[in-house]
Amino acid sequence: MKHLLSRLAPLWAPLWAPLLLALPWAAQAQQGYPARNITLVVPFAAGGPTDVVARTLGAVMSRSLGQTVVIENKLGAGGTIAAGAVAKAAPDGYTFLIHHNGMATAPGLYRKLAYNPLADFEYVGQVVDVPMTLLGRKDLPPGKPQELFAWVKANASKVTLAHAGLGAVSQLCGMLLQQALGVELTAVPYQGTAPALNALLGGQVDILCDQTTQTLPHIKAGSVKLYGVTTRERIGHLPDTPTLEESGLKGFEVKVWHGIYAPKGTPTFATERFGAALRAALKDPAVVTRMSELGGDIVPEAKQTPEGLRAWLRPEIDKWGALIRAAGTYAD
Ligand code: MLT
Repeated sequence: MKHLLSRLAPLWAPLWAPLLLALPWAAQAQQGYPARNITLVVPFAAGGPTDVVARTLGAVMSRSLGQTVVIENKLGAGGTIAAGAVAKAAPDGYTFLIHHNGMATAPGLYRKLAYNPLADFEYVGQVVDVPMTLLGRKDLPPGKPQELFAWVKANASKVTLAHAGLGAVSQLCGMLLQQALGVELTAVPYQGTAPALNALLGGQVDILCDQTTQTLPHIKAGSVKLYGVTTRERIGHLPDTPTLEESGLKGFEVKVWHGIYAPKGTPTFATERFGAALRAALKDPAVVTRMSELGGDIVPEAKQTPEGLRAWLRPEIDKWGALIRAAGTYAD
């Protein structure tokens, strides 16, 4: 028998030889990881809320990884271009994606989506939760939230609502607002809320829902009108500002959460190393201070894990899918 196996071995060689050759390479790749810069893809414009979170983390993670985390802003289609590109990127541990609720809303919003959030990614962990604010341009006539709602209803055909594309949280918040008020406004899409907020500051659009990570300095400077916060509870930075629910929009709640993903098949040693750097960064005083200045709540440690993100994502897809179907919003 032994004799027979040794005679057959050369016939099997084409199958096992490449595996044997690959083994030392794999061990080397694991030991030397990361051996070059890592790209963290941001699905929206530079300078906006997602970008701020990514760059704050990237600076600290670069130090602990010993390689630069390069932020790449890949814009378009409410974040779905970036997510699709990362789903198809080489699963070598050198490409990651940071995304927010858009990962859960896109399956409901897009009839044809180039990726499956549940099947095409490895998960690294959740990062930070951020409240949103409902803003108007500085010279918008209404003062109080109820006056804004009445003004929007009375002028619906003329009111412009800025957002960052189908799949952006600004669009999601705007969709819920229109649904709550029973109106259809003129949407003005941008490739992120950095340019959308600029348009609001410049008086080119009327209203915008956007995250505190970008809006707090403008609210404090009085360069925009603030009508409410989108969370269930009031927030520490704006204690006198009512929630939209308090102002009469029953059940209104949008809280922005963020997750980090890698292409499916990325080796576990890479997702674990990147995840360990993420968790260390989320304890770093520079990150903790910056996030708290911007109104972001770093999520508890159990959520900063692949399991924490996976367990969160599926129910979010179901929850937003139902609301999106009720609103009848979708793209082909
Ligand atoms: C951004 O970074 O521009 C935002 O997260 C866009 C959005 O989702 O509203």
